[in-house]
Amino acid sequence: MGSTSGAKVAVIGAGYVGLTTAACLSSLGHQVVCADIDQEKVDALRRGEATIREPGICELVVDGLASGRLDFVLGASAAAAGADIVILCVATPMSVTGAADLTTLESVVTEVRDLLPTGCVVVNKSTVPVGTAARVAHLIDRADVAVVSNPEFLREGFAVHDFLNPDRIVVGSADRDPVSARRVADLYEKLDTAVLVTDSASAEMIKYASNCYLATRLSFVNTVAELCEYLDANVDDVTAGMGYDARIGKSFLRPGPGWGGSCLPKDTFALLHIAESAGSDFALLRAAIETNLKQQELVVDKVRKAVGGNLAGTRIGLLGLTFKAGTDDLRDSPALAIAARLAAEGADLSGYDPSVHAPVAGVTDNVRVTGTAYHAAKGAAAVVLLTEWPEFRALDWSRIADRLDGRAVIDTRNLLDPVAVARAGLSYQGIGRPDSTRKPLPRTVGMVRQAG
Ligand code: UGA
Repeated sequence: MGSTSGAKVAVIGAGYVGLTTAACLSSLGHQVVCADIDQEKVDALRRGEATIREPGICELVVDGLASGRLDFVLGASAAAAGADIVILCVATPMSVTGAADLTTLESVVTEVRDLLPTGCVVVNKSTVPVGTAARVAHLIDRADVAVVSNPEFLREGFAVHDFLNPDRIVVGSADRDPVSARRVADLYEKLDTAVLVTDSASAEMIKYASNCYLATRLSFVNTVAELCEYLDANVDDVTAGMGYDARIGKSFLRPGPGWGGSCLPKDTFALLHIAESAGSDFALLRAAIETNLKQQELVVDKVRKAVGGNLAGTRIGLLGLTFKAGTDDLRDSPALAIAARLAAEGADLSGYDPSVHAPVAGVTDNVRVTGTAYHAAKGAAAVVLLTEWPEFRALDWSRIADRLDGRAVIDTRNLLDPVAVARAGLSYQGIGRPDSTRKPLPRTVGMVRQAG
């Protein structure tokens, strides 16, 4: 057993990352106090009510409270005093320049620095510019407190799963300080995974490089999909064929309406800004960002063409509003960016999303939020699927066809069976897929022999 088994941990911030970290660490046997500045959130969590939508989180919070290993408090100071390890999980939103805004992080550090017990390790989990661990150490300015960077790689909708089944743990400390790095690594000793110890700048860079690589990969795939349309190829087959190459791998190859969410857009802009500040031109990353905006425009072009060239006054039904399936998160959602572009051309939008039950002021203003996909389709010239909710596969396309004014179905996630849609008398278009007037090969016919 490592020295910090059953460590006393303070987690500052009860958002997606903070709450997941607190709940999972308590489930691993640590004594965790999680702090937030929102009294209502703290009260709800103390009652065992999860404040984020994540599979498994509610159970972990309830178990943690019942075991006495998890508690929630108001304010960072109440949690930090007496902790062996203080984990910072506060938001680092994008500022107007594209750089990460560190105001909250720095004010928390300033608030707790004099309360930290001797020997305490401050861990930064928030995604922060390279060099922030060094800056935090400078702000704390105490020889008896170490600062370590320990980035998270959690996907929304899979945060608990990803925390407890990580691909790797990265711990970055000044001069690879083995003692502090070991204490942080020991928090995860019950997990069977690779632990990489680096200097703090490299750990911070690993997080940005990972998210920016994923974003660039998707922009590449979306461009390949566009090219497939010109060349009569099928992107589903192309990415399947690419994915068999072990160097490429099968995941993160689905074309779509562009990537979004609270992380990839923010982190790509931030790394671009970091590169510029360092005097380096990250042209590839800039191209990935521009390609992502172009992808939204390509979707709008498809919709405009499908309704005869003019969107003004045209009713469009949208399926999906969140940035991906399995979350209620609308932040930087490509679906809403596309809705804004359609609305700017005068389209009249109805939209349905399984996790959005009411309009959100200032966020869904361009869209009339409906209670079912069938309501969203009513009187529309076209239906546009924007988020890959599995339940959209089970829609009754004849029922949709009965409600539609027009015939067009545009599937920006390549989620639907083109044949099922065409069978209802509708005209199907995916992204980089042959159109439904041609007969696509059933997928099982495409695969002649499986390995092994
Ligand atoms: C992302 C990373 O995947 C996590 O590893 C990271 O920890 C997290 O950001 C973060 O920095 O906190 P997340 O924002 O939850 O996680 O979303 P992803 O599942 O990565 O999806 C990002 C976007 O790419 C979504 O808009 C999604 O629809 C899109 N996407 C994803 C595709 O268009 N195609 C794919 O094949 C995969």
